[in-house]
Amino acid sequence: MGIFKKFERQFGKPQGLLGRIAGKLMELKGTEKIEWTISLLDIQKDDKVLEIGYGPGVAIELLSKLTPNGYIVGIDHSDLMFKQAQKRNLAAIKEGRVDLRLGDVANLPLFDIAFDKVLSINTIFFWENPVEILKHIHRIMKPGGVIALTIQPFNETDEKAKEYGHQMMNYLENAGFTNVRMEIKSMKPVASVCVLGMK
Ligand SMILES: C[S@@+](CC[C@H](N)C(=O)[O-])C[C@H]1O[C@@H](n2cnc3c(N)ncnc32)[C@H](O)[C@@H]1O
Repeated sequence: MGIFKKFERQFGKPQGLLGRIAGKLMELKGTEKIEWTISLLDIQKDDKVLEIGYGPGVAIELLSKLTPNGYIVGIDHSDLMFKQAQKRNLAAIKEGRVDLRLGDVANLPLFDIAFDKVLSINTIFFWENPVEILKHIHRIMKPGGVIALTIQPFNETDEKAKEYGHQMMNYLENAGFTNVRMEIKSMKPVASVCVLGMK
């Protein structure tokens, strides 16, 4: 688990009252890094996008606005986050443009579509076997598709954030992604790091 211990439990699988508070914090504090990550993905109107660990569904909502002719799939293993994200994205779900799943990323199915873009924000260090999961994600992406993994660690320094970025770059390279690069954005209280790779 390693870095996992650095994260508060409720952010790994929000549930109950504390989980609700964690969800609220994600909504209030997460928008800047979500918007930044989405901007790095150069989303197109017809993109098919997968988000892993959607939390309260803020990124899903932004993505669905950017993809009027596209399709957004999300997976999160928290029942509470599933309900909150569903509520936030009800209209787009009813229109059939957003598909939210409740489940563990370790059991990600094969989809009948291939994804242009994949993102995951402040989630990867909760995964048990990141490289295996990333190999599966690589399989379900289109050639030329882009993945973005962002992290803004809690209670850490900018240097530590960069260290995590290098670790995520290794994960992507070991899973078969190419053109792997790191972007860093200065933020309060600590920098966000986004690692991108191409299939
Ligand atoms: C810190 S929150 C981040 C939520 C959102 N991405 C954001 O930035 O606001 C991490 C989310 O990942 C989900 N998560 C963690 N491990 C997961 C796993 N193995 N499978 C699916 N979801 C997972 C949690 O339930 C939680 O909603």
